Amino acid sequence: MDRKRRDFLSATAAAVTLSAALPAKFANAAEPLAHAPAPQAATPQAPAASPDSSTYAAPTEIKAIEIINLRELEPAAQKIIPNGGFGYISSGAGDEWTKRENEAAFKRVTIAPRYLSGYKDADRSTTLLGSKLSMPVMVSAMAGHGMAHVTAEVGSAKGTSAAGALYCAASLSTKTLEEIAQACPGPKWFQIYLPADRGAATEILGRAKAAGYTAIVLTIDTVVPSNRETDRRNHFRSPLPVGNFPGQNGSYGVSPMKRDLDWDDVAFIRKTTGLPVLLKGVMSPEFAVAAVEHGCAGIQVSNHGGRQLDDVSATMTVLPRIADAVHGRATILIDGGVRRGQDIFKALALGANAVAVGRPVLYGLALGGWMGVQAVLQHLDGELEMTMRLAGARTIAEISKRFLTA
Ligand SMILES: Cc1cc2nc3c(=O)[nH]c(=O)nc-3n(C[C@H](O)[C@H](O)[C@H](O)COP(=O)(O)O)c2cc1C
Repeated sequence: MDRKRRDFLSATAAAVTLSAALPAKFANAAEPLAHAPAPQAATPQAPAASPDSSTYAAPTEIKAIEIINLRELEPAAQKIIPNGGFGYISSGAGDEWTKRENEAAFKRVTIAPRYLSGYKDADRSTTLLGSKLSMPVMVSAMAGHGMAHVTAEVGSAKGTSAAGALYCAASLSTKTLEEIAQACPGPKWFQIYLPADRGAATEILGRAKAAGYTAIVLTIDTVVPSNRETDRRNHFRSPLPVGNFPGQNGSYGVSPMKRDLDWDDVAFIRKTTGLPVLLKGVMSPEFAVAAVEHGCAGIQVSNHGGRQLDDVSATMTVLPRIADAVHGRATILIDGGVRRGQDIFKALALGANAVAVGRPVLYGLALGGWMGVQAVLQHLDGELEMTMRLAGARTIAEISKRFLTA
């Protein structure tokens, strides 16, 4: 085995180990596995892996982009992102019902404007767990930004900071968490797929804290891979390395990801870092309450953008009951299908403190590098401002169910 391939295999040991326990047909489909070359034993029918970043032609342009409607970025990005990478980013699991339902659910909530408010501006600034933001928006944790643009997460983080939004760096980023932190002078959180080995977990969490990330987001809905049929059809294997897995040089790369996550892991992360911990993947009021009772500072209502378990509800469908159950005891983010400033307004009205955005950020990155990411976030912020002005809300704190049709 040549050195490059050996390093890559080591770096993605977590994913490979995970896949070995699963039916071969799902083995290349989960978020972590998107970066794994096909383990031959587990996927005998899969094509030979070729993790050669030099053959992947990610977009390179850095330029201002004009956005009229965020949804129009997807077909534009499709023209410039290589087919396998575009399929990985855009697709969902199974029939993609949950992916579609996330967007559809926003349209079932309607706004009841309160005219003659007497306001002539709308302040979108807010603070989330100590992070001061100019808009209630986080770039959701996403693996492998290098598939969208050569600058990868360095571009995304720079664009996010420039827009005054919050950046959540993914464990499985193309760049290292330190490189991302350097490009991101603004607020930043770190998402973790927890390594099974406590030493390895302590090391990566320590690195995140040292680099300036101020909260840890533990993703809980990816303990096994899902059926990403587009990736299978495309015989997709990510050609890019994972920055945070240093291969031979660090312990994280040789520890598999923990598949039997439980509340002790949450306590471990809290104790190890002393940072606020949020659970990403909360989809029920009962679970949200359990998170609060186990000391979580926040939750991210998420079904992984419809990329994990298909046929679960849209996040907007479950948000109201979750927010009622949490009753202000934890910070609530919601992701999945946020494409409009109106969506942000509706989510806040139903009890979220902020939204997280996924795919459109990668499309903006592909189309314009960091300037494209900045444009995506500014566009959402502009639509939010317009919505607040037209609906009659002056501050983020003021947005409530009063602004929705009863
Ligand atoms: C390409 C891609 C990679 C992702 N990787 C991760 C990941 O590594 N960790 C994670 O917690 N969520 C991951 N997600 C899920 C996002 O954080 C988020 O839940 C989802 O994209 C939100 O839906 P949206 O794309 O409709 O905005 C990924 C999503 C995409 C599109």
